[in-house]
Amino acid sequence: MDSKAEAGEAAAKLAKAGTVVGLGTGSTAKFFIEALARREKEEKLALTCVATSNASEALAKSLGLKVVPFSFVEKIDFAADGADKIDAKLNLIKGMGGALVREKIIDYRAEKFVVIADEGKVVKELFGIVPVEVIPMAAKIVCRELKEIGAVDAVVRADGGKTFVTDNSNWIVHATFGKIKSPKKLEQEINGIAGVVDNGIFTRNVQCAIVGTGNGAREIKAGGE
Ligand code: A5P
Repeated sequence: MDSKAEAGEAAAKLAKAGTVVGLGTGSTAKFFIEALARREKEEKLALTCVATSNASEALAKSLGLKVVPFSFVEKIDFAADGADKIDAKLNLIKGMGGALVREKIIDYRAEKFVVIADEGKVVKELFGIVPVEVIPMAAKIVCRELKEIGAVDAVVRADGGKTFVTDNSNWIVHATFGKIKSPKKLEQEINGIAGVVDNGIFTRNVQCAIVGTGNGAREIKAGGE
């Protein structure tokens, strides 16, 4: 079985009837949403969902899930979302899908948050591209200031030559870092740059990772396997 599907489907089994579920974004989250919709149909779970992107909202609605605006819910019982990198302490780099701001709003507040991914995402230490959502007018200076705090490169994301625009009408800067010794510190430092909305380093609230191996899903709990 596809390892992203293994992870997504295993996470969908954790949703409980009558609860509020946060829907992640990306190709792994797509499997989660599809499996959740199947459960909703078969088991009549009466779930209420909140989505981390317009794309996930549209997919979930098309499959018959009830999706409401984030401001309509008092709390999120459970959320599952993908990641680009997962370190041994369950710190994450997310946001290559450009949805990091809404992802952090929801994932950080879920009572139970599970990250879902294929085995290739698991690393010893975080490194590489950190997506940063920026207010467009500040993009150029933010790129310069990201380099001042240690990025080896920082460029505005453009897909096929076209500047990528987020669901929040902002731009994304891809900042490349070497080994990130202190993810928490860097997360805060990047967010300290004026013009940054948020960044793709996630250091809070990940209780468990469900990783697809191609031969079943395995769990990595915070603080070790
Ligand atoms: C979306 O903005 C991202 O955070 C995704 O969750 C992340 O990029 C993982 O995506 P895949 O599941 O498609 O690999």
